[in-house]
Amino acid sequence: MSDKPDVKYYSLVEIKQNNGVNDGKCWIIYKNKVYDVTDFIKDHPGGPELVTEWGGKDSTKAFDNAGHSSDARNMLKPYKIGELAMEDRAVKQTKNAKSPNAQVRRSIASIVTCGLCG
Ligand code: HEM
Repeated sequence: MSDKPDVKYYSLVEIKQNNGVNDGKCWIIYKNKVYDVTDFIKDHPGGPELVTEWGGKDSTKAFDNAGHSSDARNMLKPYKIGELAMEDRAVKQTKNAKSPNAQVRRSIASIVTCGLCG
């Protein structure tokens, strides 16, 4: 038996539908993981609205900016239901990323230069 059960991935579209409105489920995203905090909302020490405001959304910045204790972060664990779909994760743009054609262009340039020199 494997220690790690298969991870369930949820799309942003599906997560957005669980925004806690009209007593529906309240899911939040924290660091690319998805938590169903529906049963926790009423117990939130900062009041329920602070959590429901982030229902169906990425709460990472808000959660961290609230200065939560490590206890608070640990409390998230039992509510985890899966992870954000890979294709919906923010892609970090690498500065000066070269297109595959850049290499080809450089080769052609050096051939031309060589021709001129020779
Ligand atoms: C989703 C966005 C969230 C925001 C914006 C938020 C914001 C806050 C704020 C402002 C406080 C301070 C309240 C005060 O001092 O009166 C607080 C406290 C707390 N929150 Fe949240 N919260 C969020 C979600 C959660 C979640 C999902 C959990 C746990 C599953 C949680 C657990 C706690 C705990 C345990 C405290 C007490 C102080 C501490 O131990 O850090 N919060 N929260």
